[in-house]
Amino acid sequence: AAFTDYQAETATISQGVVESNHAGFTGSGFVNYDNLIGSSVEFAVSAAAAGTQSLTFRFANGTSADRPMDIAVNGTVVAAARSFPGTGAWTTWQEITVEAPLQAGGNTVRATATTAGGGPNLDRLRVSGQGDTEKPTP
Ligand code: GCU
Repeated sequence: AAFTDYQAETATISQGVVESNHAGFTGSGFVNYDNLIGSSVEFAVSAAAAGTQSLTFRFANGTSADRPMDIAVNGTVVAAARSFPGTGAWTTWQEITVEAPLQAGGNTVRATATTAGGGPNLDRLRVSGQGDTEKPTP
């Protein structure tokens, strides 16, 4: 497959809750991060081979304030305080992509809130190979 989806609601959640009250999510729900610094979601991601992959986060932020998060792969921050800006409504879901190297086999991808607002509502992580012709859906 050109990509693999990992649902936030089945990832490892620290200081957040699974909810389904804002339409438009995929899977069975999304993670509502607690509104504090350090709330996080960690995905267990498998890679067939080592190399750079696209990590695409689908999220909603119904506020007008950014909800930045550190993106870490295997414990190393690969995108510090990556912006997750307002999407206009909690039911409006958008995607942002970070390119990062994965190792062959098991990896962790963690998204950790860096401001007191916590993270956005997080729907899923899509992992796809760099240069794949099939792009993540908007
Ligand atoms: C509202 C919204 C939640 C969201 C929260 C927040 O309560 O319903 O889905 O997570 O705001 O600001 O984080």
